Amino acid sequence: MSPMPGRPAVAVLLPAAERTHVVDELRKAGYDPLAVADSKELGELLATRQDIVVGVVDVEGHPDDASRSWELLHGTPVVPALLVVNPATLERLDDEAGHETDEYLTRPYTAESIRWRVEAMVIRSTAAADVSGTELVTDFEGGDWGRRGQVVAVFNPKGGVGKTTIAVNLAAALVARGKRVLVVDADTVTGHIPTSLGMDGVPTVVDHWRDELDGGPVLSFDEQASAHASGLKVLPLSSSPIHTEVLDPQRVAQGLIQARRAADIVIVDLHPSYSPLNRAVFDMADRIMVPVTPDLAAIRAVVKLVEVADELGVRDRLSLIVNRAASGVAVADLERTVGLPVFGQVRSGGMLVVRALNEGRPLVELAPREKITQEFLALADSVMGVEPAAETARAGLRLFGRPIAVRA
Ligand SMILES: Nc1ncnc2c1ncn2[C@@H]1O[C@H](COP(=O)(O)OP(=O)(O)OP(=O)(O)O)[C@@H](O)[C@H]1O
Ligand SMILES: [Mg+2]
Repeated sequence: MSPMPGRPAVAVLLPAAERTHVVDELRKAGYDPLAVADSKELGELLATRQDIVVGVVDVEGHPDDASRSWELLHGTPVVPALLVVNPATLERLDDEAGHETDEYLTRPYTAESIRWRVEAMVIRSTAAADVSGTELVTDFEGGDWGRRGQVVAVFNPKGGVGKTTIAVNLAAALVARGKRVLVVDADTVTGHIPTSLGMDGVPTVVDHWRDELDGGPVLSFDEQASAHASGLKVLPLSSSPIHTEVLDPQRVAQGLIQARRAADIVIVDLHPSYSPLNRAVFDMADRIMVPVTPDLAAIRAVVKLVEVADELGVRDRLSLIVNRAASGVAVADLERTVGLPVFGQVRSGGMLVVRALNEGRPLVELAPREKITQEFLALADSVMGVEPAAETARAGLRLFGRPIAVRA
């Protein structure tokens, strides 16, 4: 088994029935999949190959052997493990201390989902290269993070500035960083998050609440949401701008508050208006991210928003995301003009963004190595309260030590 240059190797320890399928998919995705039968073979492989980026391990068939494999992967250096489990096992594992770089994939899984997860893990491990990973993830456990997730509303009263693009791609980037993410499409007028993720016929909150009126079960937002292949959970409030009477703003806000128990981050994409629904969301959101394009109309809309936010008492939750940022955008000028801090920047992705939308795939999946994707990953790190890995890498700070984890 000689290494294939440029193709990251993935060790695959799965039952025969799944192995071929996964190996084929990983090979198609540009990896060098190396199938092994048990922990003994895995040990031999790890001793001879230094280029293994992820180990995919079945946890169910032979638990003792799986546990031996897990230990082997967590030697020096640590190889992130993608542990394939049955849903019931995952429930049990939840409270046990695993390694920070581990991820779980529940059965049944699709070929696409395993490939996606491996991609995401590779992005994570390269972004955090030379860092134990532990530092990056465990540091917020002392803060609010251990108890509940945060709600991030994405809003600008001006249309077409990139709210939905940012909501979807930030959500996908957070999933790639291993977070549990629920994205709520609260734009009942022009919302299209499910389609932009290639998902059809996704049930909405309106569907569930109507059903409830007819004697159906009372379900939390987490239970109502549909899962994307990446693990991202998606919940649109409505698929139609009419017949939304059932969407009581206070009940929606309560639903979001409750959703923080099951998600690390809840992202809410809003319609560009000051509707009662939007104001109820502003009230409970932990942060309100305001995408702004560097043009006069968009900047004016934000100046107006700041006035309204002052009146509503939520100004301190607002921050700007400069979208379609040209390299020369004067951040300091923008901050001074609108009176809000810039939280992050996303360049123009041109046709790539259009392609992502057409293919129903987030950028982190479609083009993990593109600069715009790296910016979304950096944004995800900022949301999580970690110094953005991409920023750190660019600035070369890693030469002087580990990136510092900052509490949220
Ligand atoms: N960084 C970017 N690079 C390239 N295209 C972008 C970028 N951001 C947004 N777009 C494109 O601009 C258009 C508007 O973006 P988007 O739908 O995200 O805006 P929005 O603020 O959600 O609009 P609305 O107010 O109608 O909901 C879309 O066609 C999207 O693909
Ligand atoms: Mg939108």
